[in-house]
Amino acid sequence: MLIHNTSISLADTLRHRRQRLAQLIDFPVILWSGHSSPRNFPANPYPFRASSHFLYFAGLPLPNAAICLEAGKLELFMDNPEPSSALWHGEMPKREEIAEKIGADTARTMSELKHRGTGAASIPVQNYRTTLVQSQILQRPISSPYDLEGIDLELAKAIATLRLTHDAEALIELRKAAAISVEAHKVGMAATPKAKLEAEVRAAMEGVIIAHNMTTSYNSIVTVHGEVLHNEEYHHPLQSGNLLLADVGAETPMGWAADITRTWPISGKFSSTQRDIYDIVLAAHDACIAKISPGVEYRDIHLLAAKVIAEGLVDLGILQGNPEDLVEIDAHALFFPHGIGHLLGLDVHDMEDLGDLAGYEEGRKRSDRFGLGYLRLNRPLQSGMLVTIEPGFYQVPAILNDANNRAKYQNIVNWESLSKFADVRGIRIEDDVLVTDVGSEVLTAALQNQASAIEDLVTQG
Ligand code: GLY
Ligand code: MN
Ligand code: MN
Repeated sequence: MLIHNTSISLADTLRHRRQRLAQLIDFPVILWSGHSSPRNFPANPYPFRASSHFLYFAGLPLPNAAICLEAGKLELFMDNPEPSSALWHGEMPKREEIAEKIGADTARTMSELKHRGTGAASIPVQNYRTTLVQSQILQRPISSPYDLEGIDLELAKAIATLRLTHDAEALIELRKAAAISVEAHKVGMAATPKAKLEAEVRAAMEGVIIAHNMTTSYNSIVTVHGEVLHNEEYHHPLQSGNLLLADVGAETPMGWAADITRTWPISGKFSSTQRDIYDIVLAAHDACIAKISPGVEYRDIHLLAAKVIAEGLVDLGILQGNPEDLVEIDAHALFFPHGIGHLLGLDVHDMEDLGDLAGYEEGRKRSDRFGLGYLRLNRPLQSGMLVTIEPGFYQVPAILNDANNRAKYQNIVNWESLSKFADVRGIRIEDDVLVTDVGSEVLTAALQNQASAIEDLVTQG
């Protein structure tokens, strides 16, 4: 494991975070990083990813470690590597060195955690083996992060309050993740003319991320079937005339994420139908970003995207009616069935391990409306929040061929006009937008999104 040198002291940042936590709660907290899971035997594990709540306060991705936070103090619990591990893994930093790096007040072995659990709050780690340990130490069952109660719920609310907005150290990391993701997308576009399969473009994009000692912040989507929202197949051939949708983001070694989507023509030139729809999605994207500012409701940004998309589809003759009325009856969701975006931070879909606790303002619940049910963030925006803006247009057979939708929207959709757009399966344009005191800053702005610029990036690199 690498101990990083950063310009702002990591220890100072972590101290500040736990002091802020101490202002919100008055009980001890134990957070576990989690175990790595073996693929077949312990020395062949799946890649380890520390729990994000642990990372936020401990700063480093330490496997099989725990921290106790109380009144602004930090205790680190981890075992030093067995002497024999040096043969396989080289010399690793010792507990005391790590403790100093992260500004821990004390450093103890894991077995010393045994008697510390009573009265402490925690959040379940998404790893079965770790939740068993958590239950043992806390001496009570701890399982699902979706139905926390008591002090665990209070802790989750306090952590959500802190993690909703980003401090300076987090922003340094988030900018790094954004910059490398931008580079990956440029390389992916430039690699397309010579590539024969989706997999080759994915490899070019992830190659950039890996070469910067980062990893992907979610499984890459690089697909000619953009209508499959989280497609994870890469075997399709790249054929001229099709679009390629790439949703690929980097994660820094400290765990901070980026999340970018671009959609480009494999030939390097959009067809006129593809260009028409692309420009509608881009208009929605730009309108949403222009509206981002502290105090603005994210739900209203989603509804703005829906309206701009509905207007564009009316202009193209695909939808019929008044755009605002069309949004009221969720007609936009036939083609834009997901939310306009989500929180971004230590995770893509940041803090969704807590269900809607972070994404939804207290007292708000998910809508059961077709056009609003997948809205993942429903809060007024605050300076320091990082959100994605990712409108899209998709022709999803399961939605468009659904008998109920066919009946409900029979006279709303001009099915014949729609059939002319068969070469547009899925388009999404996604950027990472920081809410600032006066408006917003697009952290991924270095990656162009105008249709002609995209064509140039594909053909000229
Ligand atoms: N990359 C997943 C998403 O955009 O939500
Ligand atoms: Mn996203
Ligand atoms: Mn994405």
